[in-house]
Amino acid sequence: MRLFVAVPLPPEAHAAAAEILGRLRAEEWPVRWVREDGLHITLKFFGDVMPERYDTIAEMIGFAVDDMGPMTLNVTGAGAFPGLAHPRVIRLELAGDAGALELLQDRLERKGLAIGFPPEGRPFHPHITLGRVKEGQRLPAGAQEILESVPGGESFLADKVVLFESQSGPLGPQYDPLLEIALTA
Ligand code: 2AM
Repeated sequence: MRLFVAVPLPPEAHAAAAEILGRLRAEEWPVRWVREDGLHITLKFFGDVMPERYDTIAEMIGFAVDDMGPMTLNVTGAGAFPGLAHPRVIRLELAGDAGALELLQDRLERKGLAIGFPPEGRPFHPHITLGRVKEGQRLPAGAQEILESVPGGESFLADKVVLFESQSGPLGPQYDPLLEIALTA
C-alpha cells in the first residue's frame, strides 16, 4: 500500500484552493492537475509499504502528533518548483503557523526514520500541489504572470492530520483516508 500523511484543508480553504485550481485548469496548459479531492498539505510520504507495517506507522503518527494543537495557516499565492520562471510543479504557497507545521513534519521524519523510513533529504516547504507540468513540456509565455497574479487567501485552522492511501485510478491517483488524528493540544 502506498501511504502518506497530510493535513487536509478545511471546507472554506478547500473551496478557495479548488477555485484557483479550476481557474488555472481553464488555461489548458500541458499540466496534469490534481483532482479537487486531492488537495492537501503533504507532511510525510512513506511510499509503498507492506500492509503488515500499517499498525507501526499509525502508532508512530500518533506519537508525532501527540501534544500538537491546531495551526492557523493561509495561502499566500501560487508558486512553482523549482521556480516560477521554469515550473515543473505548480503549487499554492503557505504561511502562518509554519513553524508548528515544520515541527510536526520534522517529528514525522525523525519518528519515521526510527521505524525504517528514510527522511526526505530536502528542506520542508509547506505547500499544496495543484499540478505537474507534463514530461518534456513547458508552460506558454504569460503563464508566470498568471501564476503571480493568484491572490492569497483567508486564514484557516488546520486541526487534523490524515494518513492517506494513494491508489491509482482512471482519473489519476485517488487518496483514501485511513486514519484521522485531531490536533487537540
Ligand atoms: P507533493 O504534494 O509535495 O507533490 C501523494 O502522492 C502525495 O505524496 C503527494 O501530494 C506528494 O506530495 C507526496 N509525495 C512525496 N514524494 C512523493 C513521491 N516520490 N511520489 C509520489 N508522491 C510523493
